[in-house]
Amino acid sequence: MSRPAVLVARAVFPEVVERLATHFEVEANPDDVIWSRAELIAHLQGKAGMLTTGSERIDADLLAACPGLRIVANMAVGYNNFDVAAMTAAGVLGTNAPDVLTETTADFGMALLLATARRVCESEHFLRAGLWKNWRYDLFLGAEVHGSTLGIIGMGRIGQAVARRAALGFGMRVLYHNRSRLAGEIEAACGARYVEKDELLRTADHVMLVLPYSAESHHTIGAEELARMKPTATLINLARGGIVDDAALARALRERRIAAAGLDVFEGEPRVHPDLLTVPNVVLTPHIASATRGTRLAMANLAADNLIDFFTTGRPRTPVNPQVLR
Ligand code: 8YV
Repeated sequence: MSRPAVLVARAVFPEVVERLATHFEVEANPDDVIWSRAELIAHLQGKAGMLTTGSERIDADLLAACPGLRIVANMAVGYNNFDVAAMTAAGVLGTNAPDVLTETTADFGMALLLATARRVCESEHFLRAGLWKNWRYDLFLGAEVHGSTLGIIGMGRIGQAVARRAALGFGMRVLYHNRSRLAGEIEAACGARYVEKDELLRTADHVMLVLPYSAESHHTIGAEELARMKPTATLINLARGGIVDDAALARALRERRIAAAGLDVFEGEPRVHPDLLTVPNVVLTPHIASATRGTRLAMANLAADNLIDFFTTGRPRTPVNPQVLR
């Protein structure tokens, strides 16, 4: 029997491509060419599966043009690149890559919070520019992290892992807001208290965004929300571009209506709003929260497992629209 053909749409670890090649006819993209949509559709002809990194939009038009496609495996926990309803209607399974990145991403949330509140990058730029002439008592005074109040918006697995670090490691008071309130024992285990979004914005010293992107979460933080935050507050976006109105944030940072921000994700990335590049009080990183070798390899292997399980046992590990399997 001929083996199913799969497309690996972006460069991933060669050992994962080799593993896939023991099960499938694989077309890979080791040079990481960023295909146009028409090129992606052309490469998908004759393919029954695809491994994506989360940047390829899977919608009704693409599915209509690729009638042989049966599964798209994202190497990402977020799957806002999937039109899940269109995929389900077309009988195409989507899978994501949860759990394996939770702790690494939460570590990075703390890294970004610490760097932002304690002005690590701003002070390094000052030093590298040769501007450090003397020690001064007020050189780069930052905001306290330990003992302060952290407000987390989006309290899924990563939000809870951040909360544990903040409450247990840094003695922070942790508030959270989420679509639904967590069970009491989960709140207790991560030392977090549920509040309305408005109370969180008004009282937190640091606000961290860890919620999935959807039409409802678009611009969860815009000019109005920024105006409600403390002028001494920091904002961390660990989630997705588009959850923050980046233009409004750049204005708030320039006018010091909040103290600082740390951003790993951007609206329309890899483009970054030009105003964010000119304000000093923002730490900018290129979507690397899950970027350790071990974690990225585990994410790629989970996406590969989903493809292999789908075609062998029919039971992929982490489907997002499992109704397709019935
Ligand atoms: C990925 C992420 O690195 O998993 C996610 O949703 O945002 C990141 O961990 C990115 O999506 C590329 O795979």
